[in-house]
Amino acid sequence: MYLTKEEEKMLDGVYGKGTQLAMKILVAIGEAYDAPKMVPVTRTHVALSNQEADLWFAEKLADGGAKCRVRPTVNPSFNLEQFQAITNIDSEDEKIVKRTHAAYVKLGAIMTYDCTPYLERNVPRFGEIISFSESSATPFVNSVYGARSNRESAQSALCSAVTGVTPYYGFLLKENRAGQVLVHVEADMEDDFAYQMLGYFAPKKIGFAIPVFAGLKNPSKEALMNLGAQLNTGGNVALYHILGFTPEAQTMEDAFQGKKPQREVTITNADLKSMREEISDKSGKIDFALYGCPHFTIDQVCAIAELVDGKKLAVPLFIMTSALTRNLAKKMGYMDTIRAAGGEIVEDTCMDQPCWKFLYGKKGITDSPKCAYYTKRRDMQFVIAPLKDSVLAALKGEY
Ligand code: F3S
Repeated sequence: MYLTKEEEKMLDGVYGKGTQLAMKILVAIGEAYDAPKMVPVTRTHVALSNQEADLWFAEKLADGGAKCRVRPTVNPSFNLEQFQAITNIDSEDEKIVKRTHAAYVKLGAIMTYDCTPYLERNVPRFGEIISFSESSATPFVNSVYGARSNRESAQSALCSAVTGVTPYYGFLLKENRAGQVLVHVEADMEDDFAYQMLGYFAPKKIGFAIPVFAGLKNPSKEALMNLGAQLNTGGNVALYHILGFTPEAQTMEDAFQGKKPQREVTITNADLKSMREEISDKSGKIDFALYGCPHFTIDQVCAIAELVDGKKLAVPLFIMTSALTRNLAKKMGYMDTIRAAGGEIVEDTCMDQPCWKFLYGKKGITDSPKCAYYTKRRDMQFVIAPLKDSVLAALKGEY
């Protein structure tokens, strides 16, 4: 693999052991994928997970003197201050949160703690070469903006943040971005929730191929967030196209780069209904409601505020969002409305974190299959339902 003089210096340890390790890993990835060279990245996002392996790796780089050349935004952890007011936090968990924070600060990361950086703080342009991890973020930047990122792990994205480069292979090359399977969507797609189910279901029919969706009309940004997050959870799809909508698929010719689709499949209302029946817990009493996987936008917060305005929730309701959106919700009065009903908005937090221990063994309701998928290992069950129906259920205490 060809390396520039500067890249050779990183590999030889001239900039310290941390940078050397980061470059070693990227070279190994590049060799595994037959990448001819490295290319510079202009943005990075790291799926900080706050788990022990994440901490081990971040500390190893930081202790080796690494500093990010392209400072990454980072995924949620959990907001200690806000959760200490809600529940008891295990002292071991508290230590990991603090050490992870310190390690990433030392590396020079931008501590956004947000899984939708592509909406407000780390927004790439068309064709920009970037290194993004996080299952909702990678499909969004690739598909909606036409930026170019491989499906990075937290560690490979962090290595790119440190070195400023990534191996040149995969989705960075135009020819690997052509659609492979034409997906005729015959389902009604009447709200953003339908995109959750479409994203979760589609990989069952398309496998790991790049889908080109036909029949989707002007999806909202929330619908696109949902679609990408679920495609990359129910499957392993970090790039999709929407015919006549996303930038690399204005025409069929563009979407498939002049080739014929390998296959054509159709997705109907019946498919989405049966998928939901398979992954959702049964109806009945619920103990809580949880939203924001991926992090909610201000419009979604507003939708909940309007539904609970002047009412009392029968069960606790939590919304996860970015610090920026939470602050906006405060300024716009949504926070007061939601709190008065018995709900709470928390920032910097992911549902796949140990701060939710007080909900283990309980049954919740959410609009996100990804939320239900990740929390299975934490012994949480979820009914999965459209946003409005689920908030109405939280007001009643049952669905
Ligand atoms: Fe965000 Fe965590 Fe869900 S990172 S998308 S809240 S799994």
